[in-house]
Amino acid sequence: MTANVLVAYGTTNGSTAEIAEAVAAVLRKEGCTAEALPAASVARVTDYDAVVVGGGLYAGRWHKDARRFLRRHRTALADRPLWLFSSGPLDPSASERDIPPVPGLRRAMTRLDARAHVTFGGCLQEGAKGRIAKMIIRNGKGGDFRDFGRIEEWAAGVAHELDRG
Ligand SMILES: Cc1cc2nc3c(=O)[nH]c(=O)nc-3n(C[C@H](O)[C@H](O)[C@H](O)COP(=O)(O)O)c2cc1C
Repeated sequence: MTANVLVAYGTTNGSTAEIAEAVAAVLRKEGCTAEALPAASVARVTDYDAVVVGGGLYAGRWHKDARRFLRRHRTALADRPLWLFSSGPLDPSASERDIPPVPGLRRAMTRLDARAHVTFGGCLQEGAKGRIAKMIIRNGKGGDFRDFGRIEEWAAGVAHELDRG
């Protein structure tokens, strides 16, 4: 049977949405049905066999839309295979080593019995919202640290695990 997978994301500046789209594209290539949607727009998850949730990191916390999504759908999520990802570091660290989930997310992982979590590099570029974002960019500390090869590899791993049941 083809698994129907939701990839929900919380984003402020759009870069986590692009990661979610890349994950959904790999899942489709691997034979799943998959769609990427803003976490705040999802009314229910009971139509899906499995869920991936991603959030950008802001001031040491997972994006609020992603946090709310886990809370709102906790009963259905606890009943389904669940994978989580974060996107944040504006340096190559996420490609060099495993970066654990922020504490609130670690607790949610345990509560919901999530299969796995990964941190991908982040992205902050010209046009980003907010005073601090603009300051980071002005100071030359922005850039795109997303490693799409690693993202695609991780998504293929999710598809293979789903295949195994
Ligand atoms: C105000 C602000 C705070 C941030 N805080 C963190 C943080 O605590 N940890 C981290 O790894 N990245 C942090 N970042 C980097 C973002 O997580 C990164 O730009 C991410 O890709 C944003 O995702 P989005 O484009 O989906 O909103 C911060 C960026 C901004 C602008």
